[in-house]
Amino acid sequence: MSVRPTSEEVTFQVDEIIVSKTDLKGRITYANQVFAKVSGYSRAELMTQPHSIIRHPDMPRCVFKLLWDRIQDGHEVFAYVKNMAKSGAYYWVFAHVTPSYDADGTMVGYHSNRRVPDRRVVREVIEPLYGELLKIEASDKGAKEGLVASYAALNNIVKSKASSYDELIFSL
Ligand SMILES: Cc1cc2nc3c(=O)[nH]c(=O)nc-3n(C[C@H](O)[C@H](O)[C@H](O)COP(=O)(O)O)c2cc1C
Repeated sequence: MSVRPTSEEVTFQVDEIIVSKTDLKGRITYANQVFAKVSGYSRAELMTQPHSIIRHPDMPRCVFKLLWDRIQDGHEVFAYVKNMAKSGAYYWVFAHVTPSYDADGTMVGYHSNRRVPDRRVVREVIEPLYGELLKIEASDKGAKEGLVASYAALNNIVKSKASSYDELIFSL
């Protein structure tokens, strides 16, 4: 997908929930109508695509590493995410991602619900934080070292402010 980001913002209503489900690799297996409306992709277009189809280049990679580390370990995770619509416009969400299990207790995929985020938190805390993390990832070192450094920086920020990532997110 060669969608170029624009400065346009797409918004949605506080009573709307963007829902998706994925397989264990993050390929979309379900998308609700709100997801289609906000992202600008049809539900058919979203189906079977990797969830990174709506990845915004302003998102630091370490946030997704943290997300994947948590859910693959069987934990839930909450995160502020900037996404990119088919038009290149952006939309911020407050996401809750959980693992899904079959009747035998085997992990079979993931599920995410997203709501409108607190705009003050996005503007005052998340945008500056993600900007810093992106800078670390883009620094002189290779992509791998950049990710190791930004992931360490994110974990240090969490440790300096709260006892866990979720506690930090809910204290904002
Ligand atoms: C249930 C679920 C929901 C996800 N939702 C998003 C999302 O809304 N936006 C996003 O950029 N990545 C989302 N991801 C993470 C993507 O799978 C991917 O890790 C991320 O877009 C980074 O892409 P990359 O690993 O190709 O760099 C989600 C993953 C899962 C399992």
